Amino acid sequence: MKITFLGHASLQVEVAGKYLIVDPFITANELAKKIDVNSLKADYILITHAHQDHILDVEVIAKNTDAKIVSNYEIVTYYGAKEIEGHPLNHGGSWQFDFGKLTYVNAVHTSSFPDGSYGGNPGGFVLETSEGNIYITGDTALTMDMKLIPMQCKIDLAILPIGDNFTMGIDSAIIASNFVECNRILGIHYDTFGYIKIDHQEAKEKFEDKGKVLSLLEIGASLTV
Ligand code: NI
Ligand code: MN
Repeated sequence: MKITFLGHASLQVEVAGKYLIVDPFITANELAKKIDVNSLKADYILITHAHQDHILDVEVIAKNTDAKIVSNYEIVTYYGAKEIEGHPLNHGGSWQFDFGKLTYVNAVHTSSFPDGSYGGNPGGFVLETSEGNIYITGDTALTMDMKLIPMQCKIDLAILPIGDNFTMGIDSAIIASNFVECNRILGIHYDTFGYIKIDHQEAKEKFEDKGKVLSLLEIGASLTV
């Protein structure tokens, strides 16, 4: 499984010959200028919640690629009204897709669309594949519900927000990685806006002190699970 960081909380996951785009917010991200949204490959677009910084480029990618949206019921219904096809999940529910098994899990956050439409409750995704398992928390606080995840699935990579202010910060993310019993972390949701700028070196050292590895990828760079 190859995971490419597209800036902020946006990712491209290549697994089982399929391309998944997660939470695309690219065209308004000054830091992600080198990513060409029109050349992104996508079979599916996974959306954790309805905030602008997670959905901005959903429609353009869906129109370019015919990708199917996977999110909560309310978000899939919202895009369904715009003639974009999707698969609705709700919290605790799983579905076996052609790329792997996806479960929509709890997040503690909010989820309204920029136009005020109801975006359902926010969530994250656990993705189980023949190439490994990852947990994408979405925007969230540290929550005890994270402890439920390793009871059902061994996580190989935890993708955690670390920018603080709107989500967990570094210290909470370290505890989150303990809760999901995973020592390999990809940090997201940092540096994009003034409120969430972080010291990269300090962040890496804090994880290292707990025997964990925090990756902070350059935008456009990838890691392999
Ligand atoms: Ni958010
Ligand atoms: Mn966000």
